[in-house]
Amino acid sequence: LGNNYAIVTDSKAEKLFGKRLLAGMQKAGLSCFLVSFKAGEQSKNLKTVEDLSEECLGNGLDRKSAIIALGGGVAGDLAGFVAATFMRGIAFVQVPTTLLAMADSSIGGKVGVDLESGKNIVGAFWQPKKVFIDPVLLKELPPRELRNGLAETVKHAVIADAAFFDFLDNNAAAILKKEPRALLHIAEKNCSIKAAVVEKDEREENMRRILNYGHTVAHALEALTKFKRYSHGEAVAIGLNVEARIAERLGFLDLIDVQRQKSLLEKFGLQTKMPRFAPEKILAQMQKDKKSVGGSLVFALPERIGVMKQLDGGYGVEATEETIKAALLEAMK
Ligand SMILES: NC(=O)c1ccc[n+]([C@@H]2O[C@H](COP(=O)([O-])OP(=O)(O)OC[C@H]3O[C@@H](n4cnc5c(N)ncnc54)[C@H](O)[C@@H]3O)[C@@H](O)[C@H]2O)c1
Ligand SMILES: [Zn+2]
Repeated sequence: LGNNYAIVTDSKAEKLFGKRLLAGMQKAGLSCFLVSFKAGEQSKNLKTVEDLSEECLGNGLDRKSAIIALGGGVAGDLAGFVAATFMRGIAFVQVPTTLLAMADSSIGGKVGVDLESGKNIVGAFWQPKKVFIDPVLLKELPPRELRNGLAETVKHAVIADAAFFDFLDNNAAAILKKEPRALLHIAEKNCSIKAAVVEKDEREENMRRILNYGHTVAHALEALTKFKRYSHGEAVAIGLNVEARIAERLGFLDLIDVQRQKSLLEKFGLQTKMPRFAPEKILAQMQKDKKSVGGSLVFALPERIGVMKQLDGGYGVEATEETIKAALLEAMK
């Protein structure tokens, strides 16, 4: 893909895999170097983009070179954004090392960084030339990080694939034990589901919205707790439960499916109970995120496990304030 490769990684993935990848590539006769940043979401900003770009330039990266993003979603989003902007854009490859990155962030081409005033505000659509996924890399991933990726995995099953949902339900123990065969199946399914959606609608004009299932509530919850109390996947698990209840109240999702989703999330060790915030407060936060002043909100919602509700060819379904508040209260019980 290039005359020279920059491995862009975070400080933890560097220790776990970076040096080995660098040595392996050099042994294969490829010209490459490694640059890293401090692990954590706090590094996902424009200053790090500037530092990494300077280091890449200093190491001779040019328009014909390529970047290898090695690490979790933070490394992928950051390295991808550097690739999208370095000399107006160069090739890049994703090598995700967390389940969240394997299941979600490495596919679809959204790259970018946070601002002080908001997450993922500066970014681009920049597709990787390749995505290399090997679940064996998850061996030392801490349980909380594994759960993070499992929340998005359950989301994928509910939006697109009832058989995959059954697989998760029947193999939860093997998955939590990181049994390679189970993890490989998850990796394949996550990729094919997300890629199929993104291929149909890269720019999120319609179908890509289904990937936001659970996320309207999750984003509000993360913002209200200042991104400290819940990891993203933990917030998504609660969001999925609340949004399923909205779908049930609107009359097109069976209570049985709400319960099945809830119990699968709980099997994976994810909490589904909404914390006791005043529903008005959560609603106001969601309206702020969606830039809607008062009134109803539009969600992407399932009509049964594996199938999303479509209205007039679109995936947006409107729910009134009353419906949303009732669903929130129900999820607090
Ligand atoms: N671009 C997208 O479409 C998209 C989608 C979802 C999430 N995201 C972004 O992804 C980010 C979250 O990603 P994440 O959860 O992977 O976080 P992360 O990249 O911070 O990784 C979590 C932690 O795990 C460590 N780690 C990485 N690989 C490991 C391994 N194999 N073993 C042990 N530890 C390992 C990391 O160093 C880090 O400390 C957020 O910034 C979010 O906005 C992007
Ligand atoms: Zn998500």
